[in-house]
Amino acid sequence: MNRREYSRLQGIQVGGKIMALKVKVGIVGMGLGGSTVYKTLRTIDHVEIGIVCDLMENTPGMEMARLDGVQTCVSLDVFLKVPNLDVIIEATGIPEIQQHVRRNKAKSSAVIEAQGANLMMFIIEEKEKLAEIKRLKGELDAILNSVQEAIEVAGIDGKIKYVNPSFSRVTSIPAVQRIGYNIFDVSPNGALARSIRTHEPVFAHRALVGGTSVDVISNASPIVVDGQMEGAVVVFQPLTDIYKLMEQLKASNQVINELQSRLNQISTSSYTFDDLIGSHPEFESALNLAHKAAKSNSTILITGESGTGKELFAHAIHGASLRRNKPFIKVNCAAIPETLLESEFFGHEKGAFTGAVKTKLGKMELANGGTIFLDEIGDMNPYLQAKLLRVLQDMEFERVGGTKPIKVDVRVISATNRNLYEMAKQGNFREDLFYRLNVLELRLPPLRKHKEDIPAYVHSLIAKFNRKFGKHVMGLTAQAEELLMQYNWPGNIRELQNVLERAIVTVEDEIISHKHMLNFVDSQNSIKKEQMSLEIMPIQQMEKQMIQLALQHYGNSMEGKKQAANALKISLATLYNKLKTISNL
Ligand SMILES: Nc1ncnc2c1ncn2[C@@H]1O[C@H](COP(=O)(O)OP(=O)(O)OP(=O)(O)O)[C@@H](O)[C@H]1O
Ligand SMILES: [Mg+2]
Repeated sequence: MNRREYSRLQGIQVGGKIMALKVKVGIVGMGLGGSTVYKTLRTIDHVEIGIVCDLMENTPGMEMARLDGVQTCVSLDVFLKVPNLDVIIEATGIPEIQQHVRRNKAKSSAVIEAQGANLMMFIIEEKEKLAEIKRLKGELDAILNSVQEAIEVAGIDGKIKYVNPSFSRVTSIPAVQRIGYNIFDVSPNGALARSIRTHEPVFAHRALVGGTSVDVISNASPIVVDGQMEGAVVVFQPLTDIYKLMEQLKASNQVINELQSRLNQISTSSYTFDDLIGSHPEFESALNLAHKAAKSNSTILITGESGTGKELFAHAIHGASLRRNKPFIKVNCAAIPETLLESEFFGHEKGAFTGAVKTKLGKMELANGGTIFLDEIGDMNPYLQAKLLRVLQDMEFERVGGTKPIKVDVRVISATNRNLYEMAKQGNFREDLFYRLNVLELRLPPLRKHKEDIPAYVHSLIAKFNRKFGKHVMGLTAQAEELLMQYNWPGNIRELQNVLERAIVTVEDEIISHKHMLNFVDSQNSIKKEQMSLEIMPIQQMEKQMIQLALQHYGNSMEGKKQAANALKISLATLYNKLKTISNL
């Protein structure tokens, strides 16, 4: 095949869109060589076999062509008259026939001898490889064009071969002003030049893009083909983008931290009224009131000695209220250091004081929509009492160091084992706050006032501790039960719980006897102590103390006074008279 034939063939096969055209081929000589060529060509998409020719009609190649529906002929003259053959493959190997074909067809077709046919097939294969490369290049282009990072590629000699569109966006240098230039001239200190010089990757290299004031962070890597370094590629981003991302990251982290701290502080209330045991009238009236209070939105003050279940009631009230799916936030007013009280309650803005490294939500904000439980309210510091009063009035406050008012909708339940009324009277607790908190007072009786409930508590506690410690305690001896009924339980239900827990841990039998409890409960002693606290004094003085005790217990309200009078076995009018007299004592 001569140069013209070869380049003409190439033109047909690799020239851009022409690739879609079919190459029309004719074969002369369908013996062994010709039919092998025929078999190969008929599997190639871009080849159409127009005609095959052999003097012998029955060669295997001729038969095959006929079966394929390809035109066959036994006369060379007929063959040579077929128009539009792009390629004629001469496979007879007979010089006269070769010359005859050339003479007649060389102007209109590429004539290839059988050996040349192998070359053509090689070209067709190459063309298919080229198509695959073009497809890959298309994919690569799409990727490089769509990435946000700037990309630049240079050869081992430093000549810039490629920049992607983001390169021009970031640097404002058009591709034509970069491609073809040498990286050692235009950006000699950049990561790309450095990677080519050192044959090493370069990470997090900060520099100005040569000839610009664009500050970038780059990573560059050598391009190695078959173990040979051919050049390098650099990928970079402007610092402004990175700063923007960092800002976004910081903001997201802040949101995460805030959510995390909310999550840590929010306890969904875990107890319900079903967990409250007790059916003695005194206990039951507290329970009824709590049920009613749960349905309302009023502020509640729960009073009662330590261990009477104030916290349990607060949980149950929240759990039975319309706010049950909102946060229940407990604040132990006695446990927060004075310096942190305000920020604990109302939160602070970042930088409000030394150590305020980030904005923090206060308990009031965390409780929004739900309930805040102010435990040990009697121990709240006077400054905060004043602030809390204002918040309770209009449910609005500002974070420490903040200026924006924050409005919340929070139900307040507070609890104390101190006599807030007395404290208010003596100026140890703000009176106005006391009345705000005491809209509804829930007085929990001490256990000694509803000892009849003790067996029910014991029953439920045995079941609970059996589960906890894997024990099989069945119950108590009559003597042990008697001991529990006699004891006056200064620590109330909590103390009963502790006594039983220790007894169940130590007992080896299935029944707890009084001996197991003597260590923990010294009933005689405690009763004696209570009696011993009375001293000899004028009757009138003792009357005053009794009345004060009764009012402390039942409260100073109208209802409280009625109950106090009842308990003292005097009429309400006598109580009022006595109150007048004792105020002068
Ligand atoms: N009615 C009740 N039924 C069952 N368990 C109760 C009841 N009342 C209290 N308890 C249990 O007694 C323990 C003490 O209750 P709680 O912590 O609510 O008391 P408190 O009044 O808040 O005490 P303090 O004033 O010391 O904080 C808890 O373990 C609670 O589960
Ligand atoms: Mg408590």
